[in-house]
Amino acid sequence: MDPDIIVIGAGAAGMMCAAVAGARGRKVLVLDAASAPGEKIRISGGGRCNFTNLQASPAQFLSANPHFCISALSRYGPSDFIALVERHGIAWHEKTLGQLFCDGSATQITAMLLAEMKQVGAALRLNAQVQYVEKGPDGFTLQLSSGDIIGCRALVVATGGLSIPKMGATDFGYRLARQFGLALTPLRPGLVPLTFAGDLLEQAAALSGVAVPARVACGGTAFEEALLFTHRGLSGPAILQISSYWREGGTLGIDLLPGADMLDLLRAARQTQGKLSAHNFLAQYLPRRLAKELADTSDYAGALGGLSDDRLRRLAGSVNDWRVVPSGTEGYRTAEVTLGGVDTSGLDSRTMQARAVPGLYFIGEVVDVTGWLGGYNFQWAWSSGWCAGQVA
Ligand code: FDA
Repeated sequence: MDPDIIVIGAGAAGMMCAAVAGARGRKVLVLDAASAPGEKIRISGGGRCNFTNLQASPAQFLSANPHFCISALSRYGPSDFIALVERHGIAWHEKTLGQLFCDGSATQITAMLLAEMKQVGAALRLNAQVQYVEKGPDGFTLQLSSGDIIGCRALVVATGGLSIPKMGATDFGYRLARQFGLALTPLRPGLVPLTFAGDLLEQAAALSGVAVPARVACGGTAFEEALLFTHRGLSGPAILQISSYWREGGTLGIDLLPGADMLDLLRAARQTQGKLSAHNFLAQYLPRRLAKELADTSDYAGALGGLSDDRLRRLAGSVNDWRVVPSGTEGYRTAEVTLGGVDTSGLDSRTMQARAVPGLYFIGEVVDVTGWLGGYNFQWAWSSGWCAGQVA
């Protein structure tokens, strides 16, 4: 007998939705092309899954319609998910900035969702790639790559984004949206390392592995977190965060010593430590390799005492206001998320149902709602999955 609801995608959003809909007595089948459920959960948060953020609010989400996520986040928020995690006896801790991680392993979160599904009789079929969907008068018909055909009354699309293609990410959900007349907002990699070319690349590569707390700004947005030099350019939380706001050709303003005015420090040191080289002076505040690179590339040989105001100003600028134009991003290969997706104007923000196609729902990352780094994307998956599960 056909299920009432088919959920395409056994990721965070799909499993949450299946458990909630099953608890309402619906017969639910979750299909996933992969051979295991929750693969992105497994690799998330360095294997410990940053499953939510205590500070989650609409302000930490990017979308063409920033108001769209308000309803779902307020109906099922971080405290609801924490209660679920605690009911399953999963130990957790706050790492930093409200980010909650499992003490043990990310696989505990997948096991918890599978247990919730099992308890309400929601079925899971793996190695089941959905190839084609058709809508009839009474619901939907799905064709799997195995050739099997299954029908359902309601269809929930939880196919995720394009990041990490080698883990089986597909554009199926986006194609399905278009097939049913829903618009898409432009897709691009988010929470992704930025790359350099030319001299900047050489400079970053020479510093590969060096990390500093930094303030990174682009347009009107700024993040103060760690920055990491890599052999391709820049990474680290501050860069991943700003990458979601950066566009090709855009300039980043980077403060490598936030909270300190390097010009003031240099002027004072010119009086009191005049014999010190610029390189050794900077090394009092910055990692030695970075201090040397900044002094070398700016050609500040000699003692501080002999440097003019103008030279001090330029040296201070390279620390407090380093201006760089990345050449690009590392792309979907390493991006944590896909920005853009199913245009929210075609969805009901309370239920995630397509306004023009009754019975069709889109949840999780496939929707044009993308969170900051720090547990926000999983919170969106739980919130949107829960909302669809309430009504599908
Ligand atoms: P998700 O991608 O999880 O699931 C989609 C599923 O659909 C997949 O299992 C796929 O196989 C299946 N599928 C696709 N097409 C199909 C088809 N045609 N037929 C059948 N099945 C199909 N976020 C966070 O909040 N905290 C964190 O710690 C991290 N860490 C992190 C690390 C890394 C390395 C990455 C890449 C990402 C993160 N994220 C994160 C982001 C987070 O993993 C992501 O936002 C959610 O997993 C999205 O959940 P979804 O359920 O929407 O999609």
